[in-house]
Amino acid sequence: MYRDNPLKKISWHDFQKLTPQQKGVYFLREQRPYHVLTAQQFDRPMLERICDLTTKIRQIGKTKGGIRFLQDLLSEKRAMLYFVQPSTRTFLSFYAACQIVGIEPAEVRDTTTSSEVKGESPEDTVRTISSYFDMIIMRHPVGGFAERIAWLLSNTNRPVPVINAGSGMDQHPTQALLDIYTLQRSFEDKGGIEGKAIAFVGDLARGRTVRSLAMLLLLYTGVKQYFVAPESLQIQDDIVTLLKEAGTEFEVCGDFKRVIPEVDAIYMTRIQDEWDRSQESRLVDTSKFHFTAQHLTLLKPDAILLHPLPRRKEIAVEVDSDPRAMYWRQVRNGMWVRAALMLAIFDRGGEIDRYHEDLVS
Ligand code: CP
Repeated sequence: MYRDNPLKKISWHDFQKLTPQQKGVYFLREQRPYHVLTAQQFDRPMLERICDLTTKIRQIGKTKGGIRFLQDLLSEKRAMLYFVQPSTRTFLSFYAACQIVGIEPAEVRDTTTSSEVKGESPEDTVRTISSYFDMIIMRHPVGGFAERIAWLLSNTNRPVPVINAGSGMDQHPTQALLDIYTLQRSFEDKGGIEGKAIAFVGDLARGRTVRSLAMLLLLYTGVKQYFVAPESLQIQDDIVTLLKEAGTEFEVCGDFKRVIPEVDAIYMTRIQDEWDRSQESRLVDTSKFHFTAQHLTLLKPDAILLHPLPRRKEIAVEVDSDPRAMYWRQVRNGMWVRAALMLAIFDRGGEIDRYHEDLVS
């Protein structure tokens, strides 16, 4: 199944010289995702396929027979969840998604329990993991580390798929997939994501979920993106350049209250002060970028409120019960989207299609 291995055909030196857009094809096998490392590796048909599989799996998973069918699909596989940065949702949703499709999950969450404390390099540690498991799902503080590992393993005699579950400040592609799924479901009867106005709010300089989703939204025509943040936390130039190159409409501003009634979706984020060098976040007043219960009156009746979570004070808890608050649904969607992604990686989508067809006929 994995005879075609594009990362084996390029040196690490040459691979590093490619743009993120150029790298995308190296992560695919037969037009399907194999490694999942960046948002830019996805095109629109791939997104549609993952969303379609996700909806089918959710429906199949409603019956006992369907649950058993799903659990049988990848029951010969084992996955390592190598999470050396804190996580609640991504870790647990991948763990639960593995269980849904029958994959046996194992975990390393603390490198002080591994031989890294004896001086083993992270690269050797992950190569060791690949000897025992069929897939590596990793969260790592170093941007680009998952890419390095994917290249490294692809050049061994036991390549396994690598999923980036959050790397440095740059990418969180599977969060972007679940965000797209949530947007698509929310706007299903309202013309889809096309033509919608979407505001990103908060720490946009260091929020990897924002960066990944902003890139995926470029695949939908007529979407206007707003970046609403204090000046020191505004979206980085590389994303602005991508938006300009794509000819997409966007606005960078600091007036949250003005933007609220103009948009169809608001994507709130917290201050990412774990990346502070000297507690500089303390100097930034973010209170004007919090969504309060009073702001609900400004929000369009059919707009939605998203947040990758965890949150601090940027969305008041009283907002949770408003039907436009979608962030708890995002949490649940993450599990189904990640299950669909793993089935796509191991080429089991056709079996989902056939089972679903029987179910609805
Ligand atoms: N959204 C997200 O990545 O959450 P966790 O950090 O809890 O995984």
